[in-house]
Amino acid sequence: MNSLTGFARSLAGVLALVLWLGPGVGSALPPGLGDAGADIEHKFIGARKCKKCHGKELMGDQNEIWQKGLHRSAVATLAKPASLAIARKAGVNAPPSQAPECLVCHATAYGVPAEMIWKPLNREEGVQCESCHGPGRDYRKKNIMDDLDKAREKGLWDPSAESGICEHCHNSSSPTFDPHRYTLPDGSTTGFDYDQALSRIAHPIPEHVKGNYLELRKKQKAEEEKAREGS
Ligand code: HEC
Ligand code: HEC
Ligand code: HEC
Ligand code: HEC
Repeated sequence: MNSLTGFARSLAGVLALVLWLGPGVGSALPPGLGDAGADIEHKFIGARKCKKCHGKELMGDQNEIWQKGLHRSAVATLAKPASLAIARKAGVNAPPSQAPECLVCHATAYGVPAEMIWKPLNREEGVQCESCHGPGRDYRKKNIMDDLDKAREKGLWDPSAESGICEHCHNSSSPTFDPHRYTLPDGSTTGFDYDQALSRIAHPIPEHVKGNYLELRKKQKAEEEKAREGS
């Protein structure tokens, strides 16, 4: 399937659904793409809530790495002239940054039923943490996050084990999908390769901190307190 055929097909799906639901109904748009195509069982809270802990230097500041990356600017991309040309070619007449046909993969929780969104997300923040890690309303608490089994039970996805999370968006329905984007060790090419793609967006917890964050943070706080008292 070439990318334009794929895109045209999903576009037909989007349009059929918009017509069917009528204007102003933003839910359940469109089947199979972005977060709207994912199995959503918990509520979205937005990247800002993750920042409280994952914006800390000790943790490896995942927030900062994401802020500087492509996913964070995926909605800004839609305002660029290149996007207008892509949209026109695909028969999308609305400005791309307002077009459901583009936002469904360029913004987190777009087209997800409103009752699954805790508080409205800032759309300008593009593809956020929860598009890859799962909606965080129920796993974001310290004592749950600290226990990987509990966190998984409460909806933390495992993108390294559950295949297809990246492919909610990285698929041939993307008008810029290039089936030869990634070269594999054997010389063959593919449109998406998890390991190589992950290495381009890596944001790990530092090795010595992994599994010990809360304990190390406690120590850090005690030292900060001591320093304050001493001064
Ligand atoms: C909700 C949709 C969505 C999901 C899920 C998603 N991405 Fe993306 N990704 C995008 C969009 C949109 C862009 C283009 C952003 C831009 O250029 O403005 C992108 C771009 C990228 C790029 C740079 C282009 C490329 O292909 O080399 C990498 C690398 C990437 N994503 C990796 C991943 C990985 C790894 C996962 C899964 C763990 C993932 N993405 C999941 C939407 C998504
Ligand atoms: C199926 C999900 C999906 C849809 C729908 C989608 N995009 Fe994207 N977009 C992506 C992903 C993923 C990337 C990263 C490159 C790739 O794999 O296509 C991307 C990258 C881009 C880029 C960066 C160029 C590049 O080659 O990296 C532009 C520009 C863009 N999209 C514009 C649009 C516009 C305009 C629309 C609507 C007409 C749209 N996209 C619809 C998923 C999507
Ligand atoms: C485009 C997909 C994507 C986005 C967006 C994303 N992550 Fe990740 N993240 C991954 C993948 C894939 C991994 C590696 C697999 C794993 O460890 O779960 C990962 C790993 C992690 C880890 C664990 C690292 C380790 O050392 O085990 C943390 C913590 C994390 N991400 C937090 C965040 C936070 C917070 C945000 C938002 C600020 C975010 N991520 C945004 C895909 C993403
Ligand atoms: C109240 C603090 C807190 C908040 C808020 C929080 N986390 Fe965490 N998170 C943690 C702690 C603590 C760990 C475990 C760190 C360690 O390895 O010691 C963790 C671990 C993780 C991991 C790694 C899981 C693994 O593979 O071991 C991911 C992924 C993650 N968080 C994503 C998120 C995302 C996405 C959000 C927002 C929806 C979020 N977290 C919000 C504290 C938090």
